[in-house]
Amino acid sequence: MNISDAAVRKFGRAMPTFRLIYASRSVIAPEQAEGVIEAIVDVSRIRNRNVGVTGCLILAGGRFAQVLEGEQHRVEDIMASICRDVRHTDIGILEQKMVPQRRFSAWSLGYAGPSSFVKNAIVAQLARNLRGSPRSIEALLRMMDAFCAEPVPPDASPAKASDLP
Ligand SMILES: Cc1cc2nc3c(=O)[nH]c(=O)nc-3n(C[C@H](O)[C@H](O)[C@H](O)COP(=O)(O)O)c2cc1C
Repeated sequence: MNISDAAVRKFGRAMPTFRLIYASRSVIAPEQAEGVIEAIVDVSRIRNRNVGVTGCLILAGGRFAQVLEGEQHRVEDIMASICRDVRHTDIGILEQKMVPQRRFSAWSLGYAGPSSFVKNAIVAQLARNLRGSPRSIEALLRMMDAFCAEPVPPDASPAKASDLP
């Protein structure tokens, strides 16, 4: 690994790595998103693994956010490809710097789409509820509030509050 002397001085015996985080806006049609993203993740995992880059990608509310970590020139090469990619736009770098160690060392590219996030959160929360913790009812309600905070489509609106029993 090509670690500069300055980084070694700054981070001691840890394995410093370059980390880049960006956010962008997906231009993939929602009905095609699942297949297109699966293809992106498949290609990315192979390429990232080949050059020792690790990271994580999320997609929520039509926005991507991705962390890439590894040797700086490797991360920058991949980022150059990502910037040329017409499947997203409005790319903004949120952070790029040396950090003491990798956070996603087990992942050539972890991917968390909204559905797996929601599913995992619900499964974990329901497991706590089924074990009968009274406080977890409040946590479940808060989670339902958060997941249902989107504007309500007309056919999902309840009856007028004054009509409810
Ligand atoms: C949101 C998003 C994230 C991506 N992440 C990666 C990635 O981590 N690694 C990667 O090799 N390609 C990634 N890609 C795909 C690249 O943009 C590109 O298509 C691929 O690396 C092939 O590169 P090339 O077109 O320069 O040959 C991503 C694409 C998008 C839209």
